[in-house]
Amino acid sequence: MTFDVRRIRAAYPALADGYAYLDGAAGTQVPAAVIGAVRGAYEAGLSNGDGAFPASARADAITAACREAVADLVGGEPAGVVLGPNMTTLTYRIAVALAKTWQPGDEVIVSRLDHDANVRPWIQAAARAGAVVRWAEVDAATGELAAEQFAALIGDRTRLLAVTAASNVIGTKPDVPAITAMARAAGALSYIDGVHATPHGPVDIRTLGADFYATSAYKWSGPHIGAVIASPELLGSLRPDKLVPSPDAVPDRFELGTPPFADLAGVSAAVDHLAALDDAATGTRRQRVLASMAAAEAHEQRLFAVMLDALDEMRHVTTYGKAAVRTATAFFTVAGYTPRQVAEHLASRRINVWNGHNYAWEVTGVLGIRESGSAVRAGLVHYNDESDVARLIEAVADLG
Ligand SMILES: Cc1ncc(COP(=O)(O)O)c(C=O)c1O
Repeated sequence: MTFDVRRIRAAYPALADGYAYLDGAAGTQVPAAVIGAVRGAYEAGLSNGDGAFPASARADAITAACREAVADLVGGEPAGVVLGPNMTTLTYRIAVALAKTWQPGDEVIVSRLDHDANVRPWIQAAARAGAVVRWAEVDAATGELAAEQFAALIGDRTRLLAVTAASNVIGTKPDVPAITAMARAAGALSYIDGVHATPHGPVDIRTLGADFYATSAYKWSGPHIGAVIASPELLGSLRPDKLVPSPDAVPDRFELGTPPFADLAGVSAAVDHLAALDDAATGTRRQRVLASMAAAEAHEQRLFAVMLDALDEMRHVTTYGKAAVRTATAFFTVAGYTPRQVAEHLASRRINVWNGHNYAWEVTGVLGIRESGSAVRAGLVHYNDESDVARLIEAVADLG
């Protein structure tokens, strides 16, 4: 394994601006290769798909390549990759399609650990179908979402279980394989929110047991595109609302209107970028992705241990979440300052962090901090380095 963070940082034009980008959980910067792929798609001549001439064939080839790239990233099949503007839009779309198959009295399970995009679409779809919503609870002290509780929540009326692969604020990575195994045994489908998990380590949707896995390319160095990955057979069993003349094949059936082809070219380039994070990685793109994401995870976790230890040692800082398995995402408050004031102080030191609930609506409520501005989120991704962490630690220490 060879992880050269200096080489990786040099691939990102934006990182030359002197800021410490600890805001990756809300969207990462984009490497030159991705910018070049988007630009190249336009420069080559790009038309709408399914036409008789080369610029149209290029659009179709870009779409097909994008499905292959996303499939390589998560271990899916290209024919099961649904593309769309973002995870929220796609999740609403799948929820509406799935809810057409629900009966009054059916049950849907959501969790308080999840981003609201994997909660509200299911609650609203359940309400329309007359289905009952059941909640999986987070332990406020540890930030864990205990897998065991699902045994009591899942029953023979459970139709859908929605749970995150990682919290976008406290980083908790629940035991998704254990949870989905229980759902499957009861005949329920699982919808796994992989938006926060995907950039932080290797993903294999089969190991996760995910019937649906949602991700967003702008969290892993790509353009603003979302994807939901499922088996083509499962997608083929659903009937989303669509226009009469639009393709009825899977996965196109789930995609509305003309896609942003140039951005899809950028998504493929982002997967190629991720596959090359480990200089020593060899084999197929899928194999290189797995090796590279494992290397990126090790790099992030090494930096995160330093960052978290330092924050935990500061008497004026409170950190949230202590899950045994978590992404490199810190969520903290500073005594005497609102989260917004802390973010402004850090911005004055050229450090980008987020403040607020970050749409993790339920869990910030469980933690009892939502009404007071929630907390500050400082997250690491593969392009962060020791200097980013040292600058954060020094700037937060100065508030003590
Ligand atoms: C864990 C998680 N789920 C879902 C979303 C929503 O994703 P999108 O912006 O692609 O709709 C986000 C965005 O921050 C997220 O972090």
